[in-house]
Parts: sequence; C-alpha cells; structure tokens
Amino acid sequence: MSPTRTPVKQLSGNGKLVYGCDYNPEQWDRAVWEEDVRLMNQAGVNLVAVNIFGWAELESSPGTYTFERLDEILDLLHASGIGVNLGTGTSSTPAWLTALYPEILPRSASGTVAWPGGRQAWCPSSPRYREHALRLVSETVRRYGAHPAVRLWHVSNELGCHNALCYCDVSATSFRGWLKARYSTLDALNKAWGTTFWSQRYSAWEQILPPRTTISTNNPTQVLDFHRFSSDELLGYYQAEAAVLRQHSSVPVTTNFMVAAHIRNQDYWSWAPHMDVIANDHYLDHRLADPATELAFAADATRGLSQGQPWLLMEHSTSAVNWQPRNIAKGPGEMLRNSLAHVARGADGLCFFQWRASVQGSEKFHSAMLPHAGTDSRIWREVLELGGILETLAEVAGTTVRADAALVFSWEAWWAYDQESHPSSDVGYLDQVHATYRALRESGITVDVVAPGADLSDYKLAIVPGLYLVRDSESAVLTEFVRTGGTAVVTYFSGIVDENEKVLTGGYPGAFRNLLGIRSEEFYPLPPGQALALDNGSTATLWTEAMRLEGAEARLSFTAGHLAGTPAVTRNTYGAGAAWYVGTALDPAALRTVMTDAAAEAGVRALIAPEGLEVVVRSGTDNSYVFLINHSEEEHKYPAHGRELIVGEDVSNAVAIPAGAVRVVRTANPVPQTAGFTTGQKDVESD
Ligand code: GLA
Repeated sequence: MSPTRTPVKQLSGNGKLVYGCDYNPEQWDRAVWEEDVRLMNQAGVNLVAVNIFGWAELESSPGTYTFERLDEILDLLHASGIGVNLGTGTSSTPAWLTALYPEILPRSASGTVAWPGGRQAWCPSSPRYREHALRLVSETVRRYGAHPAVRLWHVSNELGCHNALCYCDVSATSFRGWLKARYSTLDALNKAWGTTFWSQRYSAWEQILPPRTTISTNNPTQVLDFHRFSSDELLGYYQAEAAVLRQHSSVPVTTNFMVAAHIRNQDYWSWAPHMDVIANDHYLDHRLADPATELAFAADATRGLSQGQPWLLMEHSTSAVNWQPRNIAKGPGEMLRNSLAHVARGADGLCFFQWRASVQGSEKFHSAMLPHAGTDSRIWREVLELGGILETLAEVAGTTVRADAALVFSWEAWWAYDQESHPSSDVGYLDQVHATYRALRESGITVDVVAPGADLSDYKLAIVPGLYLVRDSESAVLTEFVRTGGTAVVTYFSGIVDENEKVLTGGYPGAFRNLLGIRSEEFYPLPPGQALALDNGSTATLWTEAMRLEGAEARLSFTAGHLAGTPAVTRNTYGAGAAWYVGTALDPAALRTVMTDAAAEAGVRALIAPEGLEVVVRSGTDNSYVFLINHSEEEHKYPAHGRELIVGEDVSNAVAIPAGAVRVVRTANPVPQTAGFTTGQKDVESD
C-alpha cells in the first residue's frame, strides 16, 4: 500500500497543473521528434507518457535490449523541460513472445483464443508472461530509475481493458488457488455458491472451472467470485511490476484506471490504496443518452478513489475517438468544457491520448493534440488555448471539492446486479447510479462517490442507488448514519443479497427493511414502454414492487394498475434521521424532487443550478474557485464576487458566461451565500 500519495501538481515540474499526453515517437522519424518537442513547448505541455507500447522496440528478440532510441527521446524531452511519465511497456506483447509461448494468449468463456495482432493479448495469470514482462521492467527501471526526466512510472496500460477475464486452464488453476484462500474448504465453497441447486456440488477442487460458457445459466456466485478473482489477479500483476520499480527507483508509481460506463472489471476501491497517484482515462461516450453526466460521475468517482485529493486525468480526447460505432467529433469549445469539468471535479492535470495523430494502425482516425491537419486547425488552436488557461488556473492546484452528500458506488454490486436471470434485464446497475447522480447534479448538489461501508460521518445525505449486493457490515454503517441524524435515499433493487449472492429473506429489501420501514413481497417489473401514473402527476417505468408500509409514510403512490393506491416512494423517520426509499424508476423531474426534498431536510448546501450550467466549487485555505461551465446555447449570468480568472476581470455581483464558455471565479473564503449557494431547510430553520 502506498503510504502517502504524491501530489499531482508535483508531476508538472513547477507545482502548476499538469498538461500532457501520450506520445508514441516510435511511429515517427527522428526529424519529427524535434518538431514535436518544439510544439509541445508552445502548447505548454509539461508531462509526456512514453514507452506505453514499447516492448517490441526495446526487446526485439528474447533478452536483446535496444534502449538507444528511448534514451534519445528522454534526453530530448528533458532538455526541453518536459517531464516523462514512463511506461513500463508491458501492455502489448511482442510477436516473438506469443509465438514462443502460445499459452500466454487469453481465452474467452467459450474457449476462443484471442490471437496476437491486436494488443493486450496476454492472460493475467500467465507465469510465462509475467516472467518476461518483469524482466523487461527490471531492465527499464535499472536504466531510467534515476533519469532526471522521469517523474512518474506508468505500469502497463489500462490493465484489464481487453484481457480482464481470461478463462484458460492457467487461469482455472489460479482461480482455484484464490478460492482455496477465500474458502479454505470445499464445504465452505459449496455452501457459499449454493451448489445444492441444479446438482452443482463439487467434490474435488480440480472440478472447479472459471464460469465458462454453459448450455444454460452459470452459477451466479461463481460468476461473481470470478470477477473478484480477476480483479485481484490484475492488481497482483500491478503490484509485481510496482515492486520491481520500487526496488530501483524512488519515482512514484501508478497505472491508468478506466472509471467509465463501458468498463467494469476492476474493483478500483481495492486497487486505489496501491497507487502513488490516482489516474483515470476518460472518453466521452456517445452511446449513452447523457454523456456529460457520465463524465461528471466518472470524475467524482475518481476523486472518491483519491479520497478527495486531486487526481490526474491521464487520457482523454481532443475530439473524436475511433472505437465507438459513430465517432462524434467535439464541437467548438467542447474540449475545453470537458477538460475543465474534470478540473472542476478535482483533476490537477489533463493529459490526452495522444500527442500526434497516427497515420497508420487502428487508431489513425482517433483525434490527437496535433491532428492530421497540422497546426492550422481548430483543434490545435484549442490545444494552445487550453494550455494557456491551465497556466492561468495554476493556483487551483491542490484545492479540493467539498460535498455534503455521498453516493455509495460498488463495482462488486455492479457485477452482481447485471447478471442474468434477474427480474428485469431493462434495468442495469449503472442506469440507476447515473439516474440518481443526474438528479443530484441537476439540482446543484455536489456529491462525493464512496465505497459501501465507507465512513459517512462527514456527510448529511447518503444516496444508495441499486446496491443489490451488500454486506451486513456495510448496511450497518448506513443504518447507524441515519440513526445518528443522517438522511439516506435508497433506490430499488438495493439490499437484496449478501456477499454470496444469497437472498435476504422475510421481505425485500432485506438489508434495509427496518431502516426504511417498508416491506416488499414481490417485484413487478414493467414491460418497456409502459408507464404508471403517480399521485403527483409524474410517471414511473420499468420497475414496481408490491410494497407495504411498516412505519414509513408514503410520499408518492401509484394511481393506476394493479398497484393502485400502494406506495412507490416512502420516507421513514429512524432514530434522529430519515430514510427514503424510491421503489420505482421515477421520471427525471420526480426523481429530482425526491433528491432535493431529501437534501433540503438534511440541510445539504446546494448550488443554484440553472439548466445547462454546470457549477462546481473547489476550495483551498483562503480562496474558493467557482467553476461555471455553460453547456447551453444561451448566455448565463451567475452570482459571484471576486476575480474571474479565464478572462481576467473583477466581478462584484454576477459573472456572465457566454454560450458554450467556461468561467472560473476566485472568491475569498467563506464563499458568500450570494455566490450561488442555496441553503438546506435545516440551516434556514436554525438561522
Ligand atoms: C485507451 C488506451 C490508449 C488509446 C485510447 C483510445 O485509453 O489507453 O492507448 O487506445 O484508449 O481512445
């Protein structure tokens, strides 16, 4: 475990915000490198990730190392004052390695081999892969461990992006070892997995396999444990590389996380303590209905992984990516809005994939800081503008975001929730998380994203969306939080199973029934397209349940269908606090009302949040910084006092944020109420 995190601003070399990119000089001639470094200086780039995919260059045949080109690159960057985020180069294997040892190649659940020719074609459990990769890491760190350009070690790349789940025989052996450590005896495993069902009982460890493709449905606990194992396996691999690096270098070590909607195979709550810097990669996902909300959620979750401290955006894109069905280019100013949304939510550095757009390979249509069009391009001008703005915002580095509300988020619950054979495949875990998060964001309520069981004592409001799987110790924290005066909002399909995927009986939601003062006997998911009316005129879709009150009051009830007259949203006074339950998928306006009502009674400070304007505050000891990101096509005015940093003007009453623009106002602490804060009801009452 990393004893202390390295402040991200330290990685810029001058205590300012980091500005950087992935750089793949191996794709270019020496003459281009000179131009690259000159343009990097012009843009204000101060940290560059190199050698991310360098293995085949560095070790062209087993044990033959050629470092001269990388020496040159590091020296060139150093001479230009640019720091290096040095990849260990192990992410993509050279062709000779898998040709020599084909057992390294990963296998899918149905046994298909993932052949070389792409990237990350290695089994996380392969001892052969690890032996060769660690040898390369050792050679690399012994050469560069004390190089003055190197400010950060970048282990592999996006561990588990493609190869998180491998079902080969080597993985099977490793999985069994993991299971033995977890359960000690086969009896305990059989009990935990509920193997009396469908005659699945194991009588020897050797019979146990990864959850490969079956003719029907897999054992859910086996699937869940395989996720846990696979996450641990790659974390173990990270730790093995980090150990080699730390043996020869005192430079901080990290790897780039993928906190994103389409990647869910790493439980980053367990990974985060092992990182010297928390770094995330984030790409706007146009497959989602609301990509900007997902960006904000991912940024807040990354701040949660960093325990509230500043973090590093290791990759994002200046414009389109290449891996979505339609790769939508960013409009004018969108890159700036995306970038500063990350900074507003705690990033102390912004890096892009990548510096110069490739001209070959599958990413040749991926955007870059320097596009195919060259410097006479909108992207390049926006890259220069962003570099200038980050320079202007240097004083923001090191400040933090403070929230009164916590949203409980769990990769483990995600793995369990989204399995097959559940009441409805129309509701996914992340859909619930995003819906509640969006309601909070649109209500101006800043949230911290926390792990189940995390200490909630600093918060007034805890939101628990779809926490299907929960341990007793974790539900106890929430219950105690409410008993001692906190307010909780729990949404449907939470508290259903324990950590072994075993249903908590006696009425749903077993883990939270007493806290919520309700009891549901049965779930009644709705077919797509069906909407039920509620007594405040709003509508509910996708999910309903036959709920009765056991102490709680109904806040909203169904007015139609066979559940007419029964509660849909409830509130229960519990100890000194209150616990709300949202037992259906509310329409966005109704969900916002529930969140603002619960927040108001909890005394949560909200920011005025006009539609289309994203408002987030970072605070330091003396000053706070109000980030105002205008996603709309109209100018907004926002109450503010202090100095606007991007345009550079004093502001006494209000600041204007033109359509699509971003403004950041420095205001002295404490932030006056007139600077955009509304107060919760409790505060108003006690005034
Ligand atoms: C990931 C990888 C990069 C690149 C980008 C493209 O983030 O780490 O190497 O492939 O995706 O979006």
